[in-house]
Amino acid sequence: MSNPVKAALKAGIFRLESAADALVGREANPLYHLGAMSWFFFWVVGASGLYLFIPYETSAVRAWDSIEYISRVQWYWGGMIRGLHRYGSDAMVLSMMMHLVREYAMDRYHGARWFAWFTGVPLIWMVFASGITGYWLVWDMLAQYLALGTAEWMDWLGIFGQSIARNFLNPGALTDRFFTLLIFIHIAVPLFLLFAMWIHILRINRADVNPPKQLAIGTMIMLVALSLIHPAQSHDSANLGLSTGVLNPDWYYMALYPVFDTYGPAVAWAAAIGLSVLLSVMPWMVRYRRPQAARVSPPDCNGCGNCASDCPFGAVTIRPRSDVSPHREIAVVQSEVCTGCGICVASCPHSNPFNKGQILSTGIDLPNFAFDSMRKQAAARAGALDTPVRIMVFGCDHGAVLKDIKMPGVAIMSLPCSGMLPPSMVDYLLTRKLVDGVIVTACRPGECFHRLGPEWVQQRMDGERVPKLRRAVPRDRMRVIWAASTETTSLVREIAEFREELAATPVKGAAE
Ligand code: HEM
Repeated sequence: MSNPVKAALKAGIFRLESAADALVGREANPLYHLGAMSWFFFWVVGASGLYLFIPYETSAVRAWDSIEYISRVQWYWGGMIRGLHRYGSDAMVLSMMMHLVREYAMDRYHGARWFAWFTGVPLIWMVFASGITGYWLVWDMLAQYLALGTAEWMDWLGIFGQSIARNFLNPGALTDRFFTLLIFIHIAVPLFLLFAMWIHILRINRADVNPPKQLAIGTMIMLVALSLIHPAQSHDSANLGLSTGVLNPDWYYMALYPVFDTYGPAVAWAAAIGLSVLLSVMPWMVRYRRPQAARVSPPDCNGCGNCASDCPFGAVTIRPRSDVSPHREIAVVQSEVCTGCGICVASCPHSNPFNKGQILSTGIDLPNFAFDSMRKQAAARAGALDTPVRIMVFGCDHGAVLKDIKMPGVAIMSLPCSGMLPPSMVDYLLTRKLVDGVIVTACRPGECFHRLGPEWVQQRMDGERVPKLRRAVPRDRMRVIWAASTETTSLVREIAEFREELAATPVKGAAE
């Protein structure tokens, strides 16, 4: 990664994540689930909005009163729900923006993932449109300010026959029909948003749309507490005959209004459209050599579907075969969606280093880093070790920097993703006594460049997911260690500790 801004952002994010890990634990750390948190807040806002819709009066003269009623008279329930609606909306902006920055910093926005990035940009517009129309509905002084400001922006475009702003200059011009239209927009835009959110994750296999239970419960408790301690309140009722006075804006949604008040609608539109266009074309602004897509070997593929199930991007599908074969189905790779992570290679039951043959062929493989070459290189590097304790470290090109590890008795091998390592490779190296211990290091879960690598590594090594590590493989001779690219030093420390442990443990004889 040569971009210094991206590198600095990434280092900052890793620090923040480690700090949050220490505070709330890895499972409940929201920074690993920012997309899922945005979904979660959407549901909170949607459900609370439905409740608020019941007492809301779509009337220019009664809208403000109806909201005041639920806030003040029914503060313990209606007021709390209003708080959930407001703070949930703020939290959605926050989580969405942090999600955007994180995906950028982690370099997960170009190549095959252009689709998720590109379809993310309209979501920003829709979230803001939903929030701002919501503030209009309250019809207080803040709504008056927003309505007038937004109307002036719209008028500047000159696409509406008559001035919209004129409606807000004359108190008599504002009708109940206008409020009916407003509530229609405030409901329709989030519905479109939901549809667009679904499109956004269409090319992501097993998209993380639900935060872990403890994170969801903790967040909900905090939202409820905030809503009760600091209830959402309105300004004074709107009065188009008066100026708005001092306002207390919601900066999550309105930060740009005062700026644009100063510089005018032309600057507002130029900034909003310019920024959106810039964001939209970002996936094509990086110089990026697309990795070669995985390739299926028809004679070796039995159509088991493991690769399709494990692929983080749904790049592999199982289709009926047209060739002569004892198997009815075959894996098919959609090369433009494939990120070349090799996770599918590890999923294939044929990716087994114990198999015989000069050249190992497997059902699905990476053309530029074939499974056969992985076995040969691993065996050669392990064979070159001549210390009393020999350790093989497998890692990935995005986590701890393996090439910086220079330790006697330690061979390293970097894969496109640690999820490309089949557990049988660990078994092979230990059973054949090519090494005394194996370490598999992967990015910290939630940070994997290829999304699902660490999860699959852990589950396969724990025997919870196929292909499973044989139970007979001595677990004290292997380790799985999470290490981000900034944690190479701590990985070195853990390798040294493992080496000492191995030196102190007599080899009982490897698994049969
Ligand atoms: C309403 C707002 C949004 C929601 C609810 C949302 C939700 C999600 C979810 C659930 C995922 C899947 C995460 C995973 O399983 O790894 C995701 C991925 C992604 N999102 Fe968003 N997102 C939103 C806005 C955005 C925006 C504004 C951008 C950037 C312009 C963006 C860019 C991405 C990218 C690039 C990925 C793919 C990550 C990968 O391939 O590893 N999202 N989003």
